[in-house]
Formats: sequence, C-alpha cells, structure tokens
Amino acid sequence: MYKLVINANEKKSVINRNIYGHFSEHLGRCIYGGLFVGEQSDIPNVKGMRTDVVNALKNIKAPVLRWPGGCFADEYHWKDGVGPLEGRKRMINTHWGGVVEDNSFGTHEFMELCAQIGCEPYVNGNVGSGTVQEMSEWVEYITFDGVSPMAEWRGKNGRTAPWKLKYFCVGNENWGCGGNMRPEYYADEYRRYQTYLRNYGDNKLYKIACGPNGANYEWTDKFMEIAGKYADAISLHYYTVPGEWKSKGSATDFTTEKYYQTLHKAFKMEELISNHLQIMNRHDPAHTVDLIVDEWGTWYDVEPGTNPGFLYQQNTMRDAMVAALTLDIFNAHSDRVSMANIAQTVNVLQSVILTDGAKMLLTPTYHVFDLYKNHHDATLLGSWLETGEIGEGDFNIPNLSATASEKDGKISLTITNLSATDTADMECALVGAAAGAVSGRLLAGKTDDKNDFDTPDTVCIKPFNNITSTADGIRFTLPACSVAEITLG
Ligand code: AHR
Repeated sequence: MYKLVINANEKKSVINRNIYGHFSEHLGRCIYGGLFVGEQSDIPNVKGMRTDVVNALKNIKAPVLRWPGGCFADEYHWKDGVGPLEGRKRMINTHWGGVVEDNSFGTHEFMELCAQIGCEPYVNGNVGSGTVQEMSEWVEYITFDGVSPMAEWRGKNGRTAPWKLKYFCVGNENWGCGGNMRPEYYADEYRRYQTYLRNYGDNKLYKIACGPNGANYEWTDKFMEIAGKYADAISLHYYTVPGEWKSKGSATDFTTEKYYQTLHKAFKMEELISNHLQIMNRHDPAHTVDLIVDEWGTWYDVEPGTNPGFLYQQNTMRDAMVAALTLDIFNAHSDRVSMANIAQTVNVLQSVILTDGAKMLLTPTYHVFDLYKNHHDATLLGSWLETGEIGEGDFNIPNLSATASEKDGKISLTITNLSATDTADMECALVGAAAGAVSGRLLAGKTDDKNDFDTPDTVCIKPFNNITSTADGIRFTLPACSVAEITLG
C-alpha cells in the first residue's frame, strides 16, 4: 500500500494553463495535411482548417499554439506568406526534407487557426536569417491599429482590425539551427531585436528569448547576465531521446529496459528546470523572468518507410507515461514555469493527434492532456507521495507521480503508475477537505499499446470506478502503466 497525503490547506502556485500548450511547425505533415488542408479539400474544414483536428484540440482546451517553428522559424520570411495565394513565394524547407513550401499557410491562416481552436497565438520570429526590420514589421502588421504601411497592407490582405498577440519569441535554438551563435553574441542580438518589438495600443508583448539546450548552463548564465532584464521569459528545449541521436530506437518496438530508460531520461526534466532556475535566480532575485519549455517530448527513429526529414513517429502508452510525469514536473514548478509546448501537435514527434488523409486518431499522449485539463489555472496543492523504486538495468525511477490541484471548490488528482508490470494499491488521505462526491477516469494499457488507423480506440479513457471512501480520504488500485484522474468534492 502506497500513501498519498493531499493538504488542501497548503495552497501553492497557480498552474498556468499554458503549461498544456502545443507547438506547430512547418515540418513534415504537421501544418499541411495535419492542421490545414485548404478550402478546396474534400476533408471537412472551415477556411482550410481540419474540423476534426480543431475539435479535438478544443476538447483538451489547448491554451496556446507556437508557430512557425522550430528551426523553420529562422528561415521563415513572413512577408512571403501573406497576400493573394497565387502571388505567394515558394521556398525550399531546407531543414525538413528539402520539400517545397508554398506559403499557403501564413500569418492570417495561423491567426484563424488559433481563433477556431480558441487558443492564444505564440509567434516565433527569425533572428538566424532575418532582420530587425522584418521582425519589427511583423509585430506592426499583426497588432498595429492605425495608419501605417503594415496596417494598411494587412487591410488590403483582408483584415482591417489588428489581432491581439502576446507571446513572441526572438529566434529559435540560436545556439544551433538558428545561427550557431555563442551566448554572448545572441544576448546582444536579443537586446537589439527586442528593442524594436513595440507594444501598439493596448497590445502588450510577452518577450521570450531563446534559452538553453538541455544542460547548457553556460547559455542561461551568460544570457541572464547580459540580457535577462529585457526578457519576460527564456525558453528551454529538452527532448527525451532513449539512446544516441544516430539510433534513437523504435517508437513502438522496445524492451522493458528501453521503457525504463525512456522514463529515466524524461525525469531529467526535473534536474534541468531546477538547475536553470537556480542560475536565473542568481541574476534575477526578484523572479521577473519566467522559464518556459517550448519544446519537449519523446524523439525516436521515424516510422519505417516514412521521410526521415518529416519526423513522423507513432505513440504508445510509454509516451503517455512520459507526458504524465513531465506535466507533473511542470506543475510542481508552476511558480516559475509559465508555459510549455509539447512537440508537436500533429504528425511530428510526440504528437497528440495523427492523421492519414481524411482519417484522424488521438494518441495515448492526447488522452493524458485530456485527463489533466482540470489542472488548467487551478491552484497547486501541497502533497506528499510515498513511492517505491522500479526499473531495469541502470534505469531506476520512482514508481508513482502525481499532481493535486484545487479549482472552484473541487480537488483534482492525477496520479500515474509508471510500473510496466505491477499494480499499485493507494491510500489517499485528505487534510483540510472532505472527499465529498468522487469520480474518476482512467487510461491504462500495456507499455507498447497504441492507436492506429485500423483500431483507433485501443487506448482510450474509461471510467475509473473502484475508488472507495475511507475515514479520511479514498483508497484505490492503479493498474500497471496507467494514469488516473480523480475528482473530489
Ligand atoms: O521539433 C523539431 C526540431 O527540434 C525543432 O525544429 C527544433 O527547434 C528542435 O531542434
């Protein structure tokens, strides 16, 4: 029997709903075919956006969507993607498969997609191959309400009123695909670029700087020293790669040891966030700069027979476990982590949705986002969780992970049993609250269970009924490899 204590009297930070954010890049079939099919398509769409995908993202209350990259952002020239379709320039997507990008999905289409989903847009600007003027004019084009060359051009292109835009990032991975810069150089460039990102009218930008790659602590240190005071947040990127970059392993065919290696690597997110925050705090004791993690997720070898430049991978219960434990880490740090964006929304890396022509399926990872949606903007509660050690070979991890939060008088608990083989009997005590009405939902399966286009509902959420009340809380048994959402009160 494992014990969990939830203290409803210990109210911690508010869990920013943007922690449950998404990322869409012009990469493989993420945008084209995944989110956008064009108005002429036979696939049901509204103004070119896939209705099935938009509805699925609405269901998980996707709060924010990052675009247009990724590495693509630093070779994207936004002016090529506005205006009449026939006149839009074609370019080579040199990062991702060398395919032709016809720019039919541009700024207007992105803002339309966000409006349909009901999420905040998050735009990533081009530092690597762009100019200060180009970036500055993008913000003017999107947000300026008045007489100006960009506002006038926007009007000619069919949109008179400005949009609201809060989240804007100055470059992507400028330590790598975004220009191979040294931190000192990027920090100076950041200072210059951000100067010309203006707040027009009552639109107030939240300026995000390119942050570190994984454990590159020098990047954080130098950036914060030189430019920290000009940023609202810096963005960390960390992918869970179970193996070497050259042979990451299959998304679906893996041993139990590989399963534990993957989760072991995913747990590294805790160490990275803690260490980067410590460095940031040294330069910013008042905590004015947030940490966001705008790329995270699993990265395996591409599905056999698919374009290696498209990064298309399947998704199993192993990915659901990675999602759950990572979201728990973000929730636990929600006093400083203000946003996170899983990579990527559709058909790329740890997707929540896969499509094949007109067909669409929801991945196990999607269902975790569904189970966690009560945590959006809820108050994190203090909790204590007893865990055991599980694993194989060199890869030992705790068997359980959880988040408890409170919103509108209800307590939401999400709890994950990471064991590939063993059930976990749980005794949960509530302090400062009564259990009241209890309901539950459960996602469970074998570690390599997945949904495919022939059997899209192999892994899906089911009611979780075997929860019994006790004198001071509840008792239940979690199946192996499962995530439960329990609502109390
Ligand atoms: O998500 C795929 C790529 O991973 C992104 O384009 C880049 O930012 C990162 O290296």
